Amino acid sequence: MKILVTGGAGFIGGNFVHHMVNKYPEYEIVNLDLLTYCGNLETLKPVEDKPNYKFVKGDIADKEFIMDLFEKEKFDVVVNFAAESHVDRSIENPDIFVHSNVLGTVTLLNACRKFGIKRYHQVSTDEVYGDLPLDRPDLFFTEETPIHTSSPYSSSKASADLYVMAYYRTFGVPVTISRCSNNYGPYHFPEKLIPLIISRALADQELPVYGKGENVRDWLYVTDHCKAIDLIIHKGRVGEVYNVGGHNEKTNLEVVKTILKALDKPESLIKFVTDRPGHDMRYAIDPTKLETELGWEPEYTFETGIKKTIEWYLENKEWWQNILSGEYQNYFSNMYGKRLENTEQ
Ligand code: NAD
Ligand code: TYD
Repeated sequence: MKILVTGGAGFIGGNFVHHMVNKYPEYEIVNLDLLTYCGNLETLKPVEDKPNYKFVKGDIADKEFIMDLFEKEKFDVVVNFAAESHVDRSIENPDIFVHSNVLGTVTLLNACRKFGIKRYHQVSTDEVYGDLPLDRPDLFFTEETPIHTSSPYSSSKASADLYVMAYYRTFGVPVTISRCSNNYGPYHFPEKLIPLIISRALADQELPVYGKGENVRDWLYVTDHCKAIDLIIHKGRVGEVYNVGGHNEKTNLEVVKTILKALDKPESLIKFVTDRPGHDMRYAIDPTKLETELGWEPEYTFETGIKKTIEWYLENKEWWQNILSGEYQNYFSNMYGKRLENTEQ
C-alpha cells in the first residue's frame, strides 16, 4: 500500500507520518509538503532514514506538479493534512487560505479522479460547525450539525469539505472526512495557544489571553487524532464524515493556568488582550459515531496529555527555540505588538 500524506512536515501530519511509518513497515509513506513557515523537516528526523518513508517538496495546488506526481507514484490512499491552519493569520491574509485549503484540495481531488485511488481522506476541523453558546453545555457538534463558519480559516476548510463530498457524489471518488477538535502535543508550532504559552512562560514573558479567556476548546492529544485517521482510512465507510474528540472541554484561562502551575510560574504573567475578531465561543465534539462504528477511544485525558506535552517541550527545547529565533519574531511583533500595549486590564 502506498500512502500520500500531504502536510507531513506540519504538526499533526508529522505525528501521523511517525505513527504510520512505525506501525506499518510494509507500507510506503510519501510525505508531500511545501515547507511553508510552519513546515519543518526537523520534525521528520526520527523517521527520515526508514526505508518505507520518502519526502517530496511541492505545492498541493500546483496542478502540473500534482498530476505528474500521481502519474509517477500511483498512490493507493491520499491523506490531506496540508493547509494553512491558523485562524489569526486567516484574519490578516485570507487569500492564501483559499489557495492552499480550497484550490489545493480540489487539485488533489482532480488527480485522484484521473488516476484512481482506493481512498481520499480529508483532514478537516470541528471549526466548520461554527461555535456553541457557553450557556448550553448540553449541546455538542454531531456529523449532522449544519456547516456555519466564522473565520476565513474555517470557511476555507468548510469549502474544501463541500468539494470533497461533491467529488464523491458526482464523480464517485471514494472519500472520507474527519472533523477533529483542537489538537495539542509534540511538534506543535508555537503560534498556537498551548505551545505559545509553554514557550513564553518558560522565558517569563507576558502571556496574551484574548478577551476574558472564557472561550472553550475541546482538546485532543495529537496521537489520539492520528489513531482515529488510521482507523478511518482502513475501516471507515466511504462518503462518511467522522467527528473526532475526547470530551476535554477547557476554557482558555483554565489551560493557561494549568500550564503555569505545571511549570511553577506565576499567574501574574497573564495579560488579557484585545479579543480576536469573530472569536468562536465554544467547540465541543460528540464522537459517538467514531466510537460505536469504528471502536475508537482516546488514550489521553487533558490531564495526562498536557503533562506529556509539557515534558516534550522541556526535553526538546532545540526544536522550538530554532523556530522562535527566526521569522517568528516578526510574526509575533506584528500580531501581538499592539495587543500587548492595549491590554484589557
Ligand atoms: P500546520 O500548520 O502545523 O501544518 C500544515 C502543513 O501543511 C505545514 O507543514 C505546511 O508546510 C504544509 N502546507 C501548507 N500549505 C501547503 C501547500 N499548499 N502544499 C503543500 N503543503 C502545504 O497544521 P496542523 O495543525 O498540523 O493541521 C493539519 C491539518 O489538520 C490542517 O488541515 C488543519 O486544518 C487540520 N486540523 C488541525 C487542528 C489543530 O488543532 N491543529 C484540528 C483539526 C483539524
Ligand atoms: P488557537 O490555538 O489559535 O486555536 P483555534 O483558534 O483554532 O481554536 O487558539 C485556541 C484558543 O486560544 C482560541 O480561543 C484563541 C485563544 N488564544 C489566546 O487567547 N491567545 C493566543 O495568543 C492564542 C494564539 C490563542
